[in-house]
Amino acid sequence: EKGTYPHYMLKEIDEQPFVIRTIIQKYSNDNGELVIDQNILGAINQADRLYIIAAGTSYHAGMVGKNIIERLAKIPTEVHVASEFGYNMPLLSEKPLFIFISQSGETADSRAVLVQIKKMGYQALTITNVPGSTLSREADYTLLLHAGPEIAVASTKAYTAQVAVLSILAEVVARSKGLPIDVDLVHELGIVASAMEELCDTRDAFEQIASDYLSFARSSFFIGRTLDYAVCLEGALKLKEISYIQAEGFAGGELKHGPIALIEEGTPVFVLSTQENVNLPIRGNVKEVAARGANACIISMKGLEMDGDRFVLPQVHELLTPLISVVPMQFIAYYAALHRGCDVDKPRNLAKSVTVE
Ligand code: M6R
Repeated sequence: EKGTYPHYMLKEIDEQPFVIRTIIQKYSNDNGELVIDQNILGAINQADRLYIIAAGTSYHAGMVGKNIIERLAKIPTEVHVASEFGYNMPLLSEKPLFIFISQSGETADSRAVLVQIKKMGYQALTITNVPGSTLSREADYTLLLHAGPEIAVASTKAYTAQVAVLSILAEVVARSKGLPIDVDLVHELGIVASAMEELCDTRDAFEQIASDYLSFARSSFFIGRTLDYAVCLEGALKLKEISYIQAEGFAGGELKHGPIALIEEGTPVFVLSTQENVNLPIRGNVKEVAARGANACIISMKGLEMDGDRFVLPQVHELLTPLISVVPMQFIAYYAALHRGCDVDKPRNLAKSVTVE
């Protein structure tokens, strides 16, 4: 039930710190070490390449997961949009393992791929919020998100749960391979949960941003590089699906290859900067759009902030920034939709789970 909340989406955004803490607990042993099922670990360690298959928000979580898995566990990982993969299968490695990411576990596009790869004799792991869902039953292994029911069509806490579980998977695999791990993930995820709480407490700031930048907007852009790029795609999806404002996410470096032609006087451009190695390049992109009249709203992370940034996020580990930079995106979309009188929890033309191909 949504209790005193006006919308499920708002409740589910607020639940994120709790979800992260629940995940830490569910995936820890009595010694406080992160653990996952030995069979899953075995399957991953036998694979020479991981193929993440997902749709929508889960695909965006997969993009982040790929990055974390490659950086911590050093396993080459590809991420594919489910609806494309089935019809245009890439050349597979010798020993692939498939990872299906799906909040509902019922997405038809993902299931079509699962059926196909099972026929080919490959193994699959499903990461889902719904025990007993189709994708969970039909895969060889399941990891649960433990996020609690997600009712709003716009996915929020499932995304952060997916990223958290993928990061745990990456850490446990890295440890099992004896790789040097320079991140204390339990500690860092704890910091993330507190940072999320702080952000939920400052929701008014994001309501003000939605009002300042999006009140009269017909279109908007989200730009970032590396991990921020993945979160920009998610921010744009959130905004378009519930507020119906056209929203596009771009990699900062791609702007000058076309999209910058769309920038007009007053066009809102949301900019994320949480990664030290691309802080200066993304700032260069801000100058490019500002010179064309864009109304840039820069959201940076503590330690990387510069004069004129609209909001500074609390500092978290650089691999985990997508868990917190997404929170302002969720709130901005929520308030933009609310101000426009949209049906936040049940946007037009959309269903919570897409069970047709
Ligand atoms: O249940 P799934 O995670 O498989 O759903 C995938 C997408 O349909 C879903 O993430 C969709 O993009 C959301 N409405 C986005 O907020």
